[in-house]
Amino acid sequence: MKVLAIESSCDETAVAIVEDGSKVLSSLIASQVAEHALFGGVVPEVAARAHLRVIQPLFTKALAEAGCTPAELDLIAVTQGPGLIGALLVGVSFAKGLAASLGKPLRPIDHVHAHVHGALLGLPAGTEIPALFPALALVVSGGHTNLYYMRSPVSFELVAATIDDACGECFDKVAKHLGLGYPGGVVIERLARAGQAARFSMPKMLAAKNKLMFSYSGLKTHVAQLYQQELAKNPAGLDPEQVADLCAAFQDEALGQLVRKLRLFFEQTQLPVKSLLVAGGVAANLRLRALLAEALPIPSYFPSLRYCGDNAAMIAALAWYEYQQQKADGRAEEPGVWDAYSRYRFELVTSASKGENRQW
Ligand code: KG4
Ligand code: ZN
Repeated sequence: MKVLAIESSCDETAVAIVEDGSKVLSSLIASQVAEHALFGGVVPEVAARAHLRVIQPLFTKALAEAGCTPAELDLIAVTQGPGLIGALLVGVSFAKGLAASLGKPLRPIDHVHAHVHGALLGLPAGTEIPALFPALALVVSGGHTNLYYMRSPVSFELVAATIDDACGECFDKVAKHLGLGYPGGVVIERLARAGQAARFSMPKMLAAKNKLMFSYSGLKTHVAQLYQQELAKNPAGLDPEQVADLCAAFQDEALGQLVRKLRLFFEQTQLPVKSLLVAGGVAANLRLRALLAEALPIPSYFPSLRYCGDNAAMIAALAWYEYQQQKADGRAEEPGVWDAYSRYRFELVTSASKGENRQW
């Protein structure tokens, strides 16, 4: 079954064609990073206009690369949310028009849930996907820091979320304060490699709270203030060694918080967990991979680099799994959920942090 998926929730336009949830026939990404870098962050209006420019040619190219005609597609999938509303509308409108004109079924897909399928797409050959479940899934991106308990590839129970900034967003904002450019994660990781984390102490965010939630806003402010203090002592600017040390100290706490909260999950629950699936842009960070391998009692799986950040192959993969499940349940004709919800769905976040959203 060939699924064509469209992703346009933020600053990447992506189109992919994936067969049976795992065989990627084409996966194209048009990044807008250069356009947004001028402004130091994503500008929603600029993003929506850029999606409009590239979506049609990208669709044509994806078909050509997959060697497939529109008539051979079995299902159209599209990111329905969360994301920038103007950006989402471009992808959703294109997908709805396509599905209507081809007479194909259409599935709305949750972007954050789909990130987890980025990790499933990158698995070593021969890995039995059902054997990885029940799993924990950590989505760490520019917009989200969500921990899910997953009983299957289509079941997402929110265990913890950030109460303020997302982990990747914190990397970006710290990089901006330090004058390192946008996006910040890759640069901070690179500079941190040569740094001594012990030189600067960082606040251990939420360490005293025995609660499953994340917080990054205080850490960002702390680094910004530290930088200003150092700058006052060295008006000519920090030397490269100091910047590297600051990056290393920041990175260790930003990632250390993730490790602490995962450990807390294992202390607080007796639920069976066979694997940890890590996804989203921050999953590209090699230090995170090393820390998790050391700290957890279960194996961790990460996406290959091209499926860490936003892409449409992950949207197609989740769509395939959901469609199979719906068919098995006799619900294949259901229209799906079209709520383009915002990441600021506070009732969800606060109920998760109080433990009310847990279903165990
Ligand atoms: O998943 P993604 O491409 O977009 C969203 O859905 O948000 O994630 C982008 C985020 C950015 O905040 C970026 O700085 C961060 O992922 N990121 C990293 C690394 N590579 C990307 N953060 C830390 N270390 C990295 N190597
Ligand atoms: Zn994303």
